[in-house]
Amino acid sequence: MTKILTGLQPSGTLHLGNLLGSILPWHGLVNKEVDPEAYLMIVDQHSITVKQDPESLKKQIYELAATLLASGVDYKKHIVFAQSQNPDHAYVGWMFQCLTPMSWLDKMTQFKDKKTKFESYKEAVGTGLYTYPALMAADILLYDVDTVPVGSDQKQHVELTCNIANRFNSQYGQTFKTPRFETSEEATRIYDLQNPTKKMSKSDRDDAGRISLTDPVDVIRKKIMRAVTDNDSLVAFDQVNKPGVSNLLAIFAAVTNRSHDDLVTEYGTQGYGTFKSAVADAVIAYLEPFQLRMNEFLNDKDQMRMILDEGATRANEVSHPKTLEAAAKMGLYVHE
Ligand code: AMP
Ligand code: TRP
Repeated sequence: MTKILTGLQPSGTLHLGNLLGSILPWHGLVNKEVDPEAYLMIVDQHSITVKQDPESLKKQIYELAATLLASGVDYKKHIVFAQSQNPDHAYVGWMFQCLTPMSWLDKMTQFKDKKTKFESYKEAVGTGLYTYPALMAADILLYDVDTVPVGSDQKQHVELTCNIANRFNSQYGQTFKTPRFETSEEATRIYDLQNPTKKMSKSDRDDAGRISLTDPVDVIRKKIMRAVTDNDSLVAFDQVNKPGVSNLLAIFAAVTNRSHDDLVTEYGTQGYGTFKSAVADAVIAYLEPFQLRMNEFLNDKDQMRMILDEGATRANEVSHPKTLEAAAKMGLYVHE
């Protein structure tokens, strides 16, 4: 059996980039394993490293759960849950904070980037934003996983996780397994429709460049028809000279499973109006049934709660013996 674990933050607006660039490639990675067991975690305790509005956070947790379930995750086989449902994460996360030298955390580029977004960050930012890689290490190491599929921005955190495992094992005896980082080669990167050299992003205030997974179909069509292209009228894949058109082609290809070449052959000389209209039709044909499935889950919160509770119970059955073993080895007052 191959154990695969990943975590997704429930902050911001889920968009087409998240679906095509992260959730669908995740299915690809899991399905290529012979006997996979996947842990899919909504990492809400990571989201509170920056201030969240409580009502919005709760809503986003449900929306993320509904999105994952609508994408076809087999929740009877795999384990879908929210991090905060299993107290072992924060417990072992604390042990790892105590074990991790500050010099290791000082090297994390994500923290270096994030802190620059705040004026006088030492006053504005909670310590969790700095120590969060220790919590992420607990998320992973509690389950003896083989691989961790994440975007390349998380590679450094997975490497830190391995260093934390090795440090614990050398100080207290073999306990944690070091995982492999994995990123999907063919993951599609989707760019902002208004600014196609920039990634479509959850946090952008202006949403004209982002197709949110909950956008009504008329809004989706409008956003695509208004997408930035260029001055000639040739549909071709050229990310340097035609970033807007190339982005629309990438989206078109991803939602129809057709190749860029095939689409260029059909739409190359038909003009941007016809091309965009075809892209809008294809995105809507793809997202509309997806939204229906999502809404079925969102309209039945009891069912979602049952799925997440069941996932958390199964997760805890695996993580708890590991927590007790590690705590006892560190000398904490626990009874195994
Ligand atoms: P984020 O939205 O930054 O929290 O990222 C969540 C996941 O979605 C990560 O695996 C990202 O690599 C992926 N992702 C985010 N934005 C995009 C995008 N515009 N295109 C493709 N993948 C994306
Ligand atoms: N830090 C990751 C992010 O910001 C999310 C995350 C938390 C995660 N715990 C994890 C990813 C464990 C993989 C495994 O995207």
